[in-house]
Amino acid sequence: MTPVARPSDAPTDGPVPARAWWRDAVFYQVYPRSFADSDGDGVGDLAGIRSHLWYLELLGVDALWLNPVMRSPMADHGYDVSDPRDIDPLFGDIAAFDALVGEAHARGIRVVMDLVPNHVSSEHPWFHEALASPPGSAERNRFHFRDGRGPGGDEPPNNWPSIFGGPAWTRVTEPDGTPGQWYLHVFASQQPDLNWAEPDVGEDLEKTLRFWLHDRHVDGFRIDVAHGMAKPADLADHDGWEENELLGHAASDPRFDNPEVHAIHRAIREVLDEYPHAVTIGEIWVSDHERFSAYLRPDELHLGFEFHLTLAGWDANEIKEAIDKGFAAVAGTPASPTWTLSNHDVDREVSRYGGGARGLARARAMILLELALPGAAFVYNGAELGLPNVDLPDEVLQDPVWERSGRTDRGRDGCRVPLPWEGTAPPFGFTGASQSWLPQPENWAALTVEAQLADTGSTLSLYRRAIELRHERPEISGDDIGWYGSPPGCLAFRRTGGVTCVLNAGTEPVVLPPGTVLLSSTPIAGRHLPPDSAAWLV
Ligand code: GLC
Ligand code: MG
Repeated sequence: MTPVARPSDAPTDGPVPARAWWRDAVFYQVYPRSFADSDGDGVGDLAGIRSHLWYLELLGVDALWLNPVMRSPMADHGYDVSDPRDIDPLFGDIAAFDALVGEAHARGIRVVMDLVPNHVSSEHPWFHEALASPPGSAERNRFHFRDGRGPGGDEPPNNWPSIFGGPAWTRVTEPDGTPGQWYLHVFASQQPDLNWAEPDVGEDLEKTLRFWLHDRHVDGFRIDVAHGMAKPADLADHDGWEENELLGHAASDPRFDNPEVHAIHRAIREVLDEYPHAVTIGEIWVSDHERFSAYLRPDELHLGFEFHLTLAGWDANEIKEAIDKGFAAVAGTPASPTWTLSNHDVDREVSRYGGGARGLARARAMILLELALPGAAFVYNGAELGLPNVDLPDEVLQDPVWERSGRTDRGRDGCRVPLPWEGTAPPFGFTGASQSWLPQPENWAALTVEAQLADTGSTLSLYRRAIELRHERPEISGDDIGWYGSPPGCLAFRRTGGVTCVLNAGTEPVVLPPGTVLLSSTPIAGRHLPPDSAAWLV
């Protein structure tokens, strides 16, 4: 591999600092469909993000993670990629992307792309070639094609389910019109899984990595289903499919976490090491921390999403345990921990913690907890506005999960409703169109960016202040925490730098430990921390 020089216009140019920027960065996840629409088609786009970079600068985040904006038929809203080295016209074009990256860098904000190596779109040229080629051909071998079982090959090749519901196999029609082989898709049928045993697949991914890193100056990748890619060669049946969720599947699940996946990460890292300012963050739904930490060996991923905190309920013991697991998952690796309260695949935290004013109070407490912890913090767009999940009517649902589950699982649209920017009625400045791609609730006027910027007690103001203090205060530093004893229902830890974070998940006010309150999620009178709140003390 030929080493490639880094272009000189990125803020990441220059000598590599001893401490990588991502170790304790605040990442802001932009779901591009839902952030801001510039061209009035009701769907967010790159120019929309660019014209709102002022907002991200104001929020004080260090980096953006963009959900997929590559060419895609949008069966899974961009996670079905038909050209990994181009921008989908829905979002703009390469020039719009370059302009966004250039302006983000000028504002000191890094840009991380989504990379989807486990599967492509069924509209990718490779899949068309596979369909036009005979069984056993090199073209088919880029995917997992198999003959069916039973009379006439009518039954799928194995008993694996798709994560999105239904079988993980779809039968194709051969070029001569006869019913033919089946192909594997762990997600939707429009997302055929790639066969990573085929060298073409890795070579093409290398081109993609270099395209975005070298030609487009991005600062790294969030890697989709990073524990997926490798499949067992025999694709055998599996007993026990009780847990069929990406968020919760058994350690023995043959679709994920096969040992061969680590060689793929090492190959990716070899390329990344030529771009030492760029980060990789794997989406790794692996619960066991020893197996998780294997992905973070010095020659694999830089960071991994650890989801125990995302899955923890409003319960001090669960939260404490999740934090301990977050640290255990990186023990013995060069990686820092990562913390995520929500993303585009899970219900928003305000709703998860009970909804309404109480859910909001708890979500506000949790962001103080997240931002006090050592490591990289991820904020999903809209969390900083305290947006709840939205109950959408059946007829507007778009997530493939809804149809694939036989309309039993409503899917993830409820956490993807476009952001309210200003005004008093939908579409709240999100788009010039009369309607956004998913409808916003009528009652979001008090949640707009405009309204919250004007209110020092708003959730947006709390996020801004917390991120600002995290950058400024020497007490909010250090790689470790120590737990304090705390009353039942509460937790308290002290970070090496000196800040103490106290959270009250109980039902009674509790007395604060010694120290001055630096910030609290609810107003504090006297020395008592009310229920459903958190505070930082120095
Ligand atoms: C990841 C993404 C999710 C997507 C799936 C398939 O889990 O976060 O949104 O549907 O992969 O690509
Ligand atoms: Mg648009």
